[in-house]
Order: sequence, then structure tokens, then C-alpha cells
Amino acid sequence: MKDDSVVSVAPLHITDIIRKKRDGGVLDDREIGFLVSGATTGSIPPEQLASWLMASWLRGLSLDETRALTIAMRDSGEKFTPRRLGKVAVDKHSTGGVGDKTSFLVAPLAAACGLAVPMISGRALGHTGGTLDKLESIPGYRTALTLSEFEDVLVHCGASIVSQTATLVPADGVLYALRDRTATVENASLICASILSKKLAAGLDALVLDVKTGSGSFLPQHKDSAYLAALLVATAEGAGTRTVALMTDMGQPLGRTAGNWIELAECVELLRGQRPAGSEDLRGLSLILAGWMIHLGGKAGTPEAGRQLAETALVDGSALGKFYMMIEAQGGDLSVFDDLAATHKPGATQVLAAWDTGYIAAMDTMAIGWAVQRTGAGREQPGAPVDPHAGIEFHARRGAHLVKGEPLATLYATTAAQLDEPIAILQRAIQISPAPPDAVPLVNQIFTRENAEAFLRNTVR
Ligand code: URA
Repeated sequence: MKDDSVVSVAPLHITDIIRKKRDGGVLDDREIGFLVSGATTGSIPPEQLASWLMASWLRGLSLDETRALTIAMRDSGEKFTPRRLGKVAVDKHSTGGVGDKTSFLVAPLAAACGLAVPMISGRALGHTGGTLDKLESIPGYRTALTLSEFEDVLVHCGASIVSQTATLVPADGVLYALRDRTATVENASLICASILSKKLAAGLDALVLDVKTGSGSFLPQHKDSAYLAALLVATAEGAGTRTVALMTDMGQPLGRTAGNWIELAECVELLRGQRPAGSEDLRGLSLILAGWMIHLGGKAGTPEAGRQLAETALVDGSALGKFYMMIEAQGGDLSVFDDLAATHKPGATQVLAAWDTGYIAAMDTMAIGWAVQRTGAGREQPGAPVDPHAGIEFHARRGAHLVKGEPLATLYATTAAQLDEPIAILQRAIQISPAPPDAVPLVNQIFTRENAEAFLRNTVR
């Protein structure tokens, strides 16, 4: 007699799954779980994972597939489940840009307003800079904390910025490295699962996403980054985390520096209450993002009220105090901040003068990001060292009027020979024109759960 209590489940085969995706099929949760578990344990070899990634890149993933992939990746390893925080945990995550250093401002701002900010960050990737590389320009600063040390710093300081551990979302470590080598990074569903799996494993109550648009973002077309923003919000909210996404301009580097130490120094100037020319967009965006964090974290009734609380914490020095506490708690030598300019010791420096008279009309920010990388501030190969003092400082921003011969940017590198290529890139990437460009808003669209779900329902991909 047949035993009805035993449900027979057909075994899965990776080649069937690849074929199904290749032919435009939609994978179910079990098939996606099988792939993620195979990536994590190594039972599915890289060539088969890479085939599935390329099939997914070409065919796209449905909303259900994206959700299932995110959750399976989130659950692929250890999770950060803080028990001693006693505070609402809120984070901000950016999809990556050039000169994008708001983490050093929003983390201490939100901490100064009574929230906990557990920030698990990354290294320089492609043309974009890495928060960890920037922090490591502070001698002694440790980014590789254990989860218990991470919690200690959070309890003590309210904010901590660390690297991913080998045991937290291991599936993303495997899949991300493969995507980087197989040209499958730029896909909204794969980016969504990669970002959110790490954020959802970090025990957050709320999340603010800064989705970059424009020439320096991973998805430069507005329609693609809007889809990513909506997908991120709907997927994170579906997994129980209050989330908002702000689409922000990456049509020029954010603030006036792009590199490692020089970006930190720019943030410390702002935390000290200074208002240097060229840093207004960085200050403005950081206050808006922190305002949303403070609002979602329940400390302000509206994002604007949150922004005002953040501005108070910036002006009264309490955010600077939180920043120093965090750096010291993670082993950083605070004396580097005594004299910001004296700490900056590049091997070679060169000023690039405007080659024409006119307005800075457009910037190819992705190319500028590659120029920053070529100064030595970023890396060509995973694991290669970066020069903490390399990078580019811009003396004029989009819309500025320059007379031929006036300084446009100063480049810093380890050796003078390393400066030729970035200078040539900047000369191609920056357009000087007789007419001024149209103004571009810093924040061009905001997605919350309601409009994200409606956007996805009405978008045909
Ligand atoms: N950042 C991530 O963590 N993953 C991506 O896929 C892109 C940016």
C-alpha cells in the first residue's frame, strides 16, 4: 500500500536549472535555495554558477526570484543579532559612486541622535571607492572585528563601520567575485540580492538606501536605477525592514575630493562645523540621508525634522565626538586629525589647469572614478594595496565658470609617472563649454513601500 505521509521530492540538477533560466523560465524557491546552497558549500562549481549568472543577467529575474535569492543569500551564513544594543538599529547603504563618503557623516550623526548604526561596508569596487579603504588610511583602524567586538563598539559609541566577515552571507562573497569576473554585475536583481542579503543579515530595524543615478553610477540610465530603487525597497520591506530609497545625483563626484585620506579629511572638516567651498552637496545630502535614518528610527516625526536634528548634532559637535569615539574604539590613531593637511603626504602632486575658458558643463563621472583608481587610490586586482594619500581634489564643480589656466583639480599619487594617465582621463571626461549646464537636483526621486510596489506593478521589464 502507498504511504501518503511520505511526499516524494524530485532531486534537483544544476544543468536543468541553468537550462530553465537560459530558456527564460522562472525558478522556484527550492531551485534558488539549491543554487545558493551550492555556491556556499562549493558543491556547484564556478563554471555552472557563472552560466546561471549570465542566463539570469540576460533573461532577468522575476520579483519572486529576486526575493527568494535575497532571502536564501541572507540565510547562507551567520547573522548579526545584537542583544545588548537597547537602541533602534538603522543603517544607510549607497549603491556606489565617486567621492561618495556620506557614511562618515551619517553614521555619527544618527548615533548622536540616539540610534545604533551597525555598518558593514565594502572595499573599492570597479570605478567606485571603498569605505573600508578610506578608513584604513587612519593608522591602527581595524575594520575586521568579530561580531562580538562589533557589538561592543556599537554599545559604547552608537556607530561602528566594519568589513564583512567570512561567515556573514558567504554566498555573496562567492557570487560577487564571480560576477566581477564574468561581466554580470550590472543587473538590478543581482545587485538587489547582493546588497540586501548583507543588510538583512545585520539585524537592522530600518534602512536608508542612496541609489545613485547619472554618469558615475553602476546603472547610469534613470529608468534602470529607478527600477533598482523600487526593487530594493519592496524586497527589504517584504522581509520586514522599514526601508526608503533616495535616488541621488552621481553626475559629478560628491563633494570636492575622491580618494582615501582626502575624503576622510573633507568629512572631518564638515564634522568640525566648517563649510568649505565645494563640499556643500556632500553636507546637504548627508543631512538629508541622516534625517531619513532618524525619522525611520523613530526619533523624529518627519524626515525634515530628522534633518534638523542631524544639523544640530553637526553644529554642536556631538557628531564629531561620536566619530572620534568610533575611530578610537576600533584602534585608530586620533592624532592624524590634529592637522589634516600635515597628515596628507602624497608622493607626487600635480595641478591640472583649465584648458579652455567656459563652464564645466558635464562630467563623465565613471571615467573620473577610473582616473581616481589609476592615481593608486583604488586597486586593479582584488587584494592589491591602495595608496592612502592618492586621489583627486576638484577646485571647480559642474556649473562653475573657469578662465583658461585656472586650477581645475589637483591630483595626488605615489609617483609622478602615475599621474599622466589620470590627467589624460580627466581631460576627456570633463567638458568645458560656453553655456552653463542646467541645474540638477541632488535628490531626484524617493521610493517608500507604497510607491515602490506601485512602480514595480506598472513596470514592464
Ligand atoms: N554593492 C554590492 O554590495 N553588491 C552589488 O552587486 C553592487 C554594489
